[in-house]
Amino acid sequence: MSGRPDLFEFEGISLTHFFTDNWENVKNFKARPDDILIATYPKAGTTWLSEIVDQLYFGGIEGCKIPIYERVPFLEICGAGFQPGTVAADNLPTSPRLIKTHLPVQLVPKSFWEQNCRVLYVARNPKDTIVSFYHFDRMNQIQPEAGPWEDYIDKFNSGKLVFGSWYDHVQGWWDQRESYPRMLYLFYEDMKEDLMGEISRVCSFLGLSLSEKELQRVTGLTTFEVMKENSMADYSSIGVLDQSISPFMRKGTVGDWKNHFTVSQNEAFDEEYKQRMGKSTLTFRMEI
Ligand code: A3P
Repeated sequence: MSGRPDLFEFEGISLTHFFTDNWENVKNFKARPDDILIATYPKAGTTWLSEIVDQLYFGGIEGCKIPIYERVPFLEICGAGFQPGTVAADNLPTSPRLIKTHLPVQLVPKSFWEQNCRVLYVARNPKDTIVSFYHFDRMNQIQPEAGPWEDYIDKFNSGKLVFGSWYDHVQGWWDQRESYPRMLYLFYEDMKEDLMGEISRVCSFLGLSLSEKELQRVTGLTTFEVMKENSMADYSSIGVLDQSISPFMRKGTVGDWKNHFTVSQNEAFDEEYKQRMGKSTLTFRMEI
């Protein structure tokens, strides 16, 4: 792998070429009515929710012998040794297809809406998202360099990270619920607080009825501790991730930001956050 990719503006969003090289195919992707789209801003718990939904549908059959990024293709990725996400999705042998995206809502291929696909969105509080993204950018060789921590919060606030502004992302998807009822908006903090309860909500939304025992099985398999030891969920087979710098399954907690933000960084962030999110009906818990 030679060098880190540049960040540039594409359709108004900061991206790298790994997410734009296949754009025509992404834009024209043909969704099927039973496709399930798992959408997030990076580091919100995408892999966690993907593993849960995959376990709900396919657990115990072949799913657990295939890495999560193959079971749940990443729609817009292209290059770096990955099959283009659109091709991987089309080649999925299973149904329903579970498809991951980090795209802001306005860039999602329109056929997902036309086909009335079920959409799951998970959001995570911004402070923990920043910390998780920072460590991810340090270890992921196909992301722009993280740079110094002191500058990272500003990059986040100005949307200069891959997939653009967190504020616009979480709010855009939140607003989408008004006009698109086949969508469930989840929070990382709720999943952490009551995993089985949130998995039950996901089941109801997907129209699945699981026995108590089955629900317990999926909950047990998707705790942080178990997923960290699961080589099919921890991205250990991906060469571009240098897990000696920081593991993909890093901490999996709410409130790790307290170990990173200084008092003044925290005060400045709270001020910015209040100005931008103060009037929103979307609220986040920075601790549980
Ligand atoms: P941390 O870096 O804070 O540990 P994504 O899959 O969207 O890239 O998100 C990755 C983040 O989700 C990482 O956060 C990772 O540890 C956390 N995560 C993954 N599986 C988890 C689980 N089962 N429970 C809690 N957190 C999990």
